[in-house]
Amino acid sequence: MKLNGEVTITGKNIAKLPIDVKKIIAAKVTVLLKQYKDTMLQFKPEELIIKFFDPGDAIVLLKKNTNQLIGFVKNKLWPGKNEYGQKVYEFGSWIVNKEFQHKGYGHYLAKLAVKSLKEKNPKAQLIAVCDLNSKKAIEILKQLGSKEINKPKNVEVLLGEGQAKVVILDMSIINY
Ligand SMILES: CC(C)(COP(=O)(O)OP(=O)(O)OC[C@H]1O[C@@H](n2cnc3c(N)ncnc32)[C@H](O)[C@@H]1OP(=O)(O)O)[C@@H](O)C(=O)NCCC(=O)NCCS
Repeated sequence: MKLNGEVTITGKNIAKLPIDVKKIIAAKVTVLLKQYKDTMLQFKPEELIIKFFDPGDAIVLLKKNTNQLIGFVKNKLWPGKNEYGQKVYEFGSWIVNKEFQHKGYGHYLAKLAVKSLKEKNPKAQLIAVCDLNSKKAIEILKQLGSKEINKPKNVEVLLGEGQAKVVILDMSIINY
């Protein structure tokens, strides 16, 4: 899985980066998320580092030579277990810089998120909770092989005002 000579940093490799480098990357992710401040959760750089970089649950794509941030995604661990006794991670903050969209990076990041979690915890389940309005995102995840499921018992879905409905997709079955 390699596209156009980009730099891919996943899972424990992000955790192992020097703190100064983590801070630079986290600041870039914060800026990128602001492109979608009405629809995506916002994080401060230090929050990203503590909650997602350090536990090895983040994926970053950078452009070779310029180090421009192409895209980001993270897997968030839900407390407890699902009805099958598995840990459940939620795929989220899936974002590709507007300059780089429609080149296949969205697909690539989604597959990397699955691969990275399977390497860390082969038995865990990876789900995506998508607002029904996010048609593009749902289409891509289904195209990759994920399937609609009922909400795992340990996951709480909080609906924001104006958010009609969500669809929950099991991404664990994606072939990466
Ligand atoms: C959802 C999102 C991450 C997708 O990123 P992306 O990089 O544009 O996704 P891809 O390029 O993989 O796929 C999008 C399209 O490009 C096409 N594509 C795939 N590979 C391609 C390539 N090598 N060259 C050109 N187009 C390509 C895909 O077929 C797809 O086409 P379609 O729009 O006709 O279906 C991006 O739109 C985004 O950041 N959205 C804002 C944040 C958001 O909504 N996140 C999801 C929250 S649930």
